[in-house]
Amino acid sequence: MSTLLVTGAAGKLGRHVVNLLLEQGGNTVIATSRDPSKLSDLAARGAGTRRADFDDPASLEAAFAGVDRVLIISTDALGIPGKRLTQHTNAVDAAKAAGVKEVVYTSMPNPETAAVLFAPDHLGTENAIKASGMGYTILRNAWYQENLLHSLPAAFASGNWYTASGDGATPYIAHDDCARAAAAALSKPSGNKTLNITGPELLTPDDIAAIAHDMLGKPLNVVKVTDEQLAEGLKHAGLPDFLIPTFVSFDTATRKGDFNLKSNDYETLTGRKPTPIKAFFEANKAAF
Ligand SMILES: NC(=O)c1ccc[n+]([C@@H]2O[C@H](COP(=O)([O-])OP(=O)(O)OC[C@H]3O[C@@H](n4cnc5c(N)ncnc54)[C@H](OP(=O)(O)O)[C@@H]3O)[C@@H](O)[C@H]2O)c1
Repeated sequence: MSTLLVTGAAGKLGRHVVNLLLEQGGNTVIATSRDPSKLSDLAARGAGTRRADFDDPASLEAAFAGVDRVLIISTDALGIPGKRLTQHTNAVDAAKAAGVKEVVYTSMPNPETAAVLFAPDHLGTENAIKASGMGYTILRNAWYQENLLHSLPAAFASGNWYTASGDGATPYIAHDDCARAAAAALSKPSGNKTLNITGPELLTPDDIAAIAHDMLGKPLNVVKVTDEQLAEGLKHAGLPDFLIPTFVSFDTATRKGDFNLKSNDYETLTGRKPTPIKAFFEANKAAF
């Protein structure tokens, strides 16, 4: 029996990972959050709960005491490049100081070269974990299928999907599959691996529009715009100024081919097939 700890357990991914670990049984499971009062459902199911805030290093060493393996879930501080690196490094340093043996971390595809503005935060975190001497599994999670729930409903409403992704492809993965991969990685000793957690298909915007049309019976015209035009459109749509460069950089990276990789790592890690995009559209018909 090992003691496994999940940070950010009040978030969607963290909560799902803790639930999977509890269902699986056989280990002591500790859920942490900036606000442990949000974890009462997990405590009722048998998880220990502790406070851990990456902005408060003093909270971390106590939180990680007596733990064998930690899942560090990357934070949502997207708007300030560099902030996540400080947060995650605090977590890595505290895990090391507390005697944690292994770390699992939720990274992104190709952080060495991707044009995404926050890629250096992920790369820096990966490097800090490797330099710590702790064992590790880096999960380079592809973009969630669920991200399409943010952009596509408005696109369907107007009939036009404005994108600067060009013909770049993305191996979208189900959020549930990322949770399953994280639970699997945390459940067993790692052997120091960097895994590409991708969905089963590489999909361009035209592919997605065609599949969505088939599944939902609604046409979607893909309008290929420049980064500058996309930035103007996002401003017009009301996205806060500080987030616009980050969102544009997602499309720049897609167009450049930064996400153009598909891997069997998910299946090797979990023994399951990743969820195809058609299943995502089927399950979310009402949202579109
Ligand atoms: N691959 C993708 O397409 C994609 C898309 C969106 C996000 N992500 C990344 O995946 C992560 C998990 O996704 P999700 O769906 O669970 O997002 P979410 O529900 O928005 O959760 C945000 C997470 O950030 C944690 N967090 C924020 N500030 C923190 C701090 N100071 N210290 C410790 N934890 C902090 C939260 O923990 P508590 O609230 O429990 O403290 C929570 O787990 C996100 O945070 C983001 O880094 C990936």
